[in-house]
Amino acid sequence: MILDGQDPAAIARAAAHLAAGELVAFPTETVYGLGADAASDRAVAGIFTAKGRPSDHPLIVHVAGVPDAERFAREVPPVARRLMQAFWPGPLTVILPRREGMAAAAAGGQDSVGLRCPSHPVAQALLRACAAHVPPVWGLAGPSANRFGRVSPTTSGHVHAEFGDSLLVVDGGACEVGIESSIVDCTRGRPVLLRPGVLTHAQIEAACGERLWLPHEIDQAGPRASGTLESHYAPQARVRVMPAQALQAAIDAAMAAEGDGVIAVWSRAALEFPAKGWLHRPMPHEARDAARELFAVLRDFDAQGVRQIWIEQAPDTPEWAGVRDRLQRAAAG
Ligand code: TXA
Ligand code: MG
Repeated sequence: MILDGQDPAAIARAAAHLAAGELVAFPTETVYGLGADAASDRAVAGIFTAKGRPSDHPLIVHVAGVPDAERFAREVPPVARRLMQAFWPGPLTVILPRREGMAAAAAGGQDSVGLRCPSHPVAQALLRACAAHVPPVWGLAGPSANRFGRVSPTTSGHVHAEFGDSLLVVDGGACEVGIESSIVDCTRGRPVLLRPGVLTHAQIEAACGERLWLPHEIDQAGPRASGTLESHYAPQARVRVMPAQALQAAIDAAMAAEGDGVIAVWSRAALEFPAKGWLHRPMPHEARDAARELFAVLRDFDAQGVRQIWIEQAPDTPEWAGVRDRLQRAAAG
């Protein structure tokens, strides 16, 4: 069931539902989240069941602001404080040492916890209503509201298509950012970018005030992280990512072979293919616009039952890192 996120009564109803240990999907500026009371291991177990996600994969805990984040964190290292100050509320998650006894199931049993303060006004309204509830709900565990391994939802309709009518979904329109938050691990003595998002490496590094590391530059094995599995964000159709020239060559070869089924193409380059048996959507030239459209395009193509989705490689520039990352994982599916 879809509720209007602009309606205060709907927010109150969603908060009461969450406080009772039920699941509610909610909008954020990145993607829609599947929320549950982070302090309730039973409620959080419902998320893992609904998603079909392994329960040792940690979930992000969403909070209304820094003071509530401190309820879940044992300590906030200075670099994390700088990041929160620079980007909260907004599309950045920090991994911090977890306060003992807090959100154990949400953290997948790890001694760290991922914390994020979303900027979407409906998410903020919901988090504040949860914190004001008696008894209070200080944080919402919230993975992307899709089944495990599938494409993240960027509209309430996507969530509805994924889970059906029994799930309460708070509508907040189409997500502005479109890909998941950047994740910075602040538990290893130096900041490590676990997942790129729309914030650039340089922007995050500037806020850190020190070098930002990539996981492969750090020896220790990282924690389990489904967003960092090689195959993720995968639509039903097979995805291939190619530079424009190779894409045109593949189209020419497929035309000659006359295979069955429609092939869908998402490209910035103007390509030549016949009107029949092919779908084309233009990829925006700005990285932020492409990120906003990416998951909706994959879902639209899938809904049209295409056989394959061929995508032009994203430019090799810092702004496109988040999109490049999601495309690579979609193609590994
Ligand atoms: O933009 C987003 O981050 C969205 C919206 C809903 O906020 N949420 C999201 O959650 O993408 P999810 O569960 O699909 O991805 C969470 C990622 C996992 O891949 C996991 O790697 C990482 O966050 N994560 C969470 N807690 C962690 C922890 N304690 N240590 C390491 N990684 C963690
Ligand atoms: Mg996800």
